[in-house]
Amino acid sequence: MRLLSLELRNYRNYAHLELEPGARLNVFLGANGQGKTNLLESVALLALSRSPRARRDADLVGPLFSEARVTAGVEAEGRRTEIRLSIRTEGAHSHRQVEVDGQPRRSVDLPGLFRVTLFWPDDMDLVKAGPEHRRRLLDQMLVQVSPGYARLLGRYARALEQRNSLLKQVAAGGQPASALDVWDLEVARLGCQLAAARRRAVAALRGPSSLHHAAISGGETLELEYVGPPEDMLRALEASRLDDLRRGTTGTGPHRDDVLVRLDGREARGFASQGQQRTAVVSLKLAEADVVAELTGERPVLLLDDVLSELDARRRGALLERLCEPGQVIITSVEAGPLPPALMAGSLVRCIERGTVRSCGPAG
Ligand SMILES: Nc1ncnc2c1ncn2[C@@H]1O[C@H](COP(=O)(O)OP(=O)(O)OP(=O)(O)O)[C@@H](O)[C@H]1O
Ligand SMILES: [Mg+2]
Repeated sequence: MRLLSLELRNYRNYAHLELEPGARLNVFLGANGQGKTNLLESVALLALSRSPRARRDADLVGPLFSEARVTAGVEAEGRRTEIRLSIRTEGAHSHRQVEVDGQPRRSVDLPGLFRVTLFWPDDMDLVKAGPEHRRRLLDQMLVQVSPGYARLLGRYARALEQRNSLLKQVAAGGQPASALDVWDLEVARLGCQLAAARRRAVAALRGPSSLHHAAISGGETLELEYVGPPEDMLRALEASRLDDLRRGTTGTGPHRDDVLVRLDGREARGFASQGQQRTAVVSLKLAEADVVAELTGERPVLLLDDVLSELDARRRGALLERLCEPGQVIITSVEAGPLPPALMAGSLVRCIERGTVRSCGPAG
């Protein structure tokens, strides 16, 4: 998997950018607010069909005119594909157009055509914040590697919504409790499939993430544990029906899943230091890339935004060493200092300044 070319038009703070990244390590340097994250976001947008940080498509459109466009030439499965996403705003509304090799396609067709593994500072929520962030890690990976997964997620969400709305009707006396039976079955059936896929994903991530973490940290033990719904979900739904009726929501199922992240035997969220937590998240992301490579036969493009900050010199060195394996990597940093000269010499290095990308001057 490789990004061969990228063109941005009126995308966030980029008026017009044309870029041909190198096949291996690409380093983008720039001060705060110059466009480093925006650049990686545009690449992730094509792979995932949604920006991991924009709440609305309209946020992606720059100030020059009412349309933003991202076009990428990618190499996947041995051939070149051109992917284009245009976002047009009309008042408060925005409209998307997706083209693959010049043919109109739907947004949902994008994931899987071009795969990335993205780390950016918001990903620290993976250890710092609630379980929804860890579920999203699993979902983001599974959507890219298993074709039916996105649909399964959607069907489960709709079944859950139906059951929840019925719970409220039954509680209000508008429906008999037996009306819930059919939705219990459906939620349990889809929920079991979802949980099985996530359980397998965590099992696959366990080995590589603990290897990466041990190597970067110099010996700490990272452990993952999937905490999913009960084995017999139908029985659990029936058992919790009274509670669910009282609350008006469904209390068991994969929408409550979590992944416990332990460092040297203790929960990382409450015990690990800032740098240790960052090491754990980066290790999880590197493991995600390994698993995607294993399952698809192609390494995803690694996008690492500001990954080096907060890590001490030894951890930075060990992390950068792990990036020297085959595969394309795009990394951003506010300064060149932490990057070893030997690594820079073998990389494509560019400086970003106010939405333009250029060769770095002698000081850069
Ligand atoms: N839709 C938009 N139109 C124009 N400019 C935008 C838009 N959205 C964001 N920006 C601007 O883009 C600039 C660059 O943002 P970006 O997040 O890429 O910075 P960065 O280089 O990653 O900085 P940092 O090192 O602080 O993370 C910001 O100043 C932001 O205000
Ligand atoms: Mg940034």
